[in-house]
Amino acid sequence: LNLGVMASGNGSNFEALVKAIQNSQLDAYISILVVNNPNCEASLRAKRLGVPCVIHDHREFSSREELDKALVKTFTNHAVEGVVMAGWMRIVTPILIAAFPNRLINIHPSLLPSFRGLDAVGQALKARVAISGCSVHLVTPQVDDGPVLAQAAVPVLSSDDHQSLSKRIQRMEHQLLPLSVALAGQNWRNAAQN
Ligand code: GRF
Repeated sequence: LNLGVMASGNGSNFEALVKAIQNSQLDAYISILVVNNPNCEASLRAKRLGVPCVIHDHREFSSREELDKALVKTFTNHAVEGVVMAGWMRIVTPILIAAFPNRLINIHPSLLPSFRGLDAVGQALKARVAISGCSVHLVTPQVDDGPVLAQAAVPVLSSDDHQSLSKRIQRMEHQLLPLSVALAGQNWRNAAQN
């Protein structure tokens, strides 16, 4: 399974995908990582892990659409079969979505449809829910709104602060994302055969 990955910051979910590939949990390879922030941690991880990485700095594009055109070009050049948004902090447009119908995946740190958008962890703490978690979903033009592929729950403890809850959710994300991508990859293969 030839994958493209997109990341903006830390890149721990990107690294979780690479590790899952290395230990044969995920039968895939990442032919390209795209980052929008030069020198972000994700790009350093790519270097360390030997994954090709390109920078498409959103500040150098006149619109979201122009940025997405560059993404489509890069992924098409690498002949990727699916794309994973692993902490991509830009809103994507129908240009990217239409280029990979049902093949563009996002991970979000809440149990969707709760707490869409920015700072889902802060939203969960503020709402005083007892359970939160993470969701892997297909991307549609509405932010954090597409069909959910998989979810995992984690408890919210009364002692939690932003950091401790984020950490618990992220550890779960690192397990859920590779599993979900493996599942999606099987679906894509089956759809191609039928
Ligand atoms: C994750 O919590 C993910 O759910 C959200 O952005 C964060 C990215 O973390 N979309 P990292 O860059 O993978 O460490």
